[in-house]
Amino acid sequence: MHFVRQLLLSWFTMLALVGGFAASGWSAALEERLPTCLACHGEKGTSVNTEVPSLGAQAAPYLEIQLYLFREGMRPVEVMNDAMKGIADDELSKLAGLLAALPPPAATGPNDPTRMEHARALVHQHRCDFCHNPDLSGRENVPRIAGQREDYLVKTMREYKSNTRPGYDASMADVVQPLTDEDIRELAYYAARQP
Ligand code: HEC
Ligand code: HEC
Repeated sequence: MHFVRQLLLSWFTMLALVGGFAASGWSAALEERLPTCLACHGEKGTSVNTEVPSLGAQAAPYLEIQLYLFREGMRPVEVMNDAMKGIADDELSKLAGLLAALPPPAATGPNDPTRMEHARALVHQHRCDFCHNPDLSGRENVPRIAGQREDYLVKTMREYKSNTRPGYDASMADVVQPLTDEDIRELAYYAARQP
């Protein structure tokens, strides 16, 4: 019962937040709007909300591209498509800069050494570390996945695999094709636990 109330409350808050965007438009200063974003994404860069990604220390060019994809409806996520309505191009890059300056997300812990070792082998085999950096901190248009929420990582990799998340380019669609759902869960387990 308590859980259901919590869930309803958090959805209510989310709806109220999205309503707020529609009402105020993008004319208000970005700094003033940022708290609304961070109410979902975590004000210190770490998200505490299920399947809502952490944005702290995310690569700025990656963020800018994703915000653009949301605005254009090319990455279909209703809350984010609504949130980006009417934002100008120069505001996209400023917003990306503000988000990238947040502290990196706090890694999930503790970990099971056997699972970590097995997943590390998968990371090498599929060259995740080649594109996302050896420490998975990301660069340029390749996102940081170190310390990202495990539930979000699983969800988004499944979406690349089912082609419901069209990436900016085809890199991830190719990467996930040979992965089983178990591989996806193990890779998410590993990435979420990287500092
Ligand atoms: C109601 C909650 C909510 C609000 C408010 C919100 N977001 Fe989001 N945001 C989400 C969810 C949920 C996702 C993940 C979508 C998915 O599953 O792909 C997301 C995804 C993102 C991503 C992509 C991250 C990644 O790793 O790919 C960025 C960037 C982002 N939001 C920025 C913002 C900004 C900037 C604002 C404020 C203008 C904002 N969000 C407001 C819920 C929210
Ligand atoms: C060829 C380079 C390349 C390789 C190899 C690669 N990635 Fe990616 N990855 C990317 C790019 C580029 C993106 C952003 C794509 C987009 O626009 O959606 C991305 C996005 C992601 C995301 C989405 C993160 C977010 O915040 O939404 C996850 C998760 C991810 N990769 C995990 C992995 C894992 C795990 C592996 C290894 C199994 C891997 N990647 C291998 C280039 C790569």
